Amino acid sequence: MEAYYTDDYVTIYHGDSRVIWPQLERSQLLLTDPPYGIEYNAQAQNLPGSTKRADISGDDDIALARWLCSMLWMVDDAVIFGANCFPGLLPHRGRWVCWDKRTMPAADKMLGSPFEMAWMNKRSGYDRMIRKLHGGVVNADGGKRVHPTQKPSGLFMAIMGEIFPEAETVVDPFMGSGSVLLAAKRENRKAVGIEIEEQYCEAAANRLRQGVLDFAT
Ligand SMILES: C[S@@+](CC[C@H](N)C(=O)[O-])C[C@H]1O[C@@H](n2cnc3c(N)ncnc32)[C@H](O)[C@@H]1O
Repeated sequence: MEAYYTDDYVTIYHGDSRVIWPQLERSQLLLTDPPYGIEYNAQAQNLPGSTKRADISGDDDIALARWLCSMLWMVDDAVIFGANCFPGLLPHRGRWVCWDKRTMPAADKMLGSPFEMAWMNKRSGYDRMIRKLHGGVVNADGGKRVHPTQKPSGLFMAIMGEIFPEAETVVDPFMGSGSVLLAAKRENRKAVGIEIEEQYCEAAANRLRQGVLDFAT
């Protein structure tokens, strides 16, 4: 299989993760933000002042989330963002990470959700809170966003550093603009990313070449 991009830490594959991921070696940590199967409405997100949005490939079909939940044998630990959209597909109770993305505690009524949830395949321990400022859909990123649902790499750095300090290898089969990969590289972990849209493979490769962390880090 030919990689789209490689460096000392990161490998990117362009294509369908349902084809590519089963051919790869196991990783210690799955850290991913898949299509949630919620028919993400790009037009509704194109509010005045916001960065222009596009549709998310695969978000009209819950089958991708179902497939992802059937692939946990490929990893030791897993963190799946948006899993609160498909709780019935999760294999067991697990634990949750709450990403508090308010710009400040007083911003409970910000435009968009003040927090997001990620499921962890942990049977013990506690639910966790990660606070990384984001600011919602309007001007959250000063126009620097290269993907419609881009998450800050600082969020993923915090999850790796605070919850999974032992994980040396990371996989993101729905990598989008590569925020997880950028975080892994900064945290000195080896990472593999897969993305079906070539424009986002290119955007991720550019971000990795520049090595610049994004907004809200
Ligand atoms: C929610 S976005 C991830 C955004 C990412 N967290 C970021 O910060 O940029 C999910 C991504 O999965 C990609 N995708 C959808 N179906 C896929 C598939 N079958 N294989 C690989 N990637 C896929 C979409 O194109 C989209 O970029």
